[in-house]
Amino acid sequence: MLRVGVLASGRGSNLQAILRWQRAGLLRAQVVLVICNHADAPALDLAGQQGVETHICLLQKRVHREAVQMQMSRLLAERGVGLVVLAGYDRILAPGFVQQWAGKMMNVHPSLLPSFAGSLHPQADALRHGVKVTGCTVHFVDENVDGGPIISQAAVAVLHGDDSESLSARILEQEHRLLPAAIRAYADGRLRIDGRTVVTRGE
Ligand code: GRF
Repeated sequence: MLRVGVLASGRGSNLQAILRWQRAGLLRAQVVLVICNHADAPALDLAGQQGVETHICLLQKRVHREAVQMQMSRLLAERGVGLVVLAGYDRILAPGFVQQWAGKMMNVHPSLLPSFAGSLHPQADALRHGVKVTGCTVHFVDENVDGGPIISQAAVAVLHGDDSESLSARILEQEHRLLPAAIRAYADGRLRIDGRTVVTRGE
């Protein structure tokens, strides 16, 4: 059984989707640890209510980012984590952390990468830019922000009259499907990274 560590910063709806798939027996994986960088993140309560161990790792300016992230990395390794999932984690990870989890860390981003890479509000940016199609991407994390090899993508049409909220909600529906499916494929050993390309074998 693959042991999964989730890094989250806020609402935690993607974490909830992962836990839903887990409960339904759809994953050969188990979330064993949730780390948040905000003490009041709803994701913490959500994990706690479902019996998942939680940790708060605050990234205060005073404390060196590398030191806190190395502490996070140790914690994940101690719990035997084989896959780190960034589910709405709002910080850029230090190069040391990224290297330690290379090929074992995935992120979900609410745009069709490489469009709107690095944006904190890609849905609003998509509307501002006037694109007709946007969506979400699940990708492995490397040293380039939102730039690692792409595992899967889902397209979402921008509708006349959409605002950031309505568009985000439709993208989120896709995220809730795509991210657990990527975890499932990883846990099943069906993902292979070949340069920039991720090859997924069928179920
Ligand atoms: C999601 O849209 C995710 O793609 C982005 O941040 C949002 C997090 O939502 N990185 P939630 O905390 O999972 O509800």
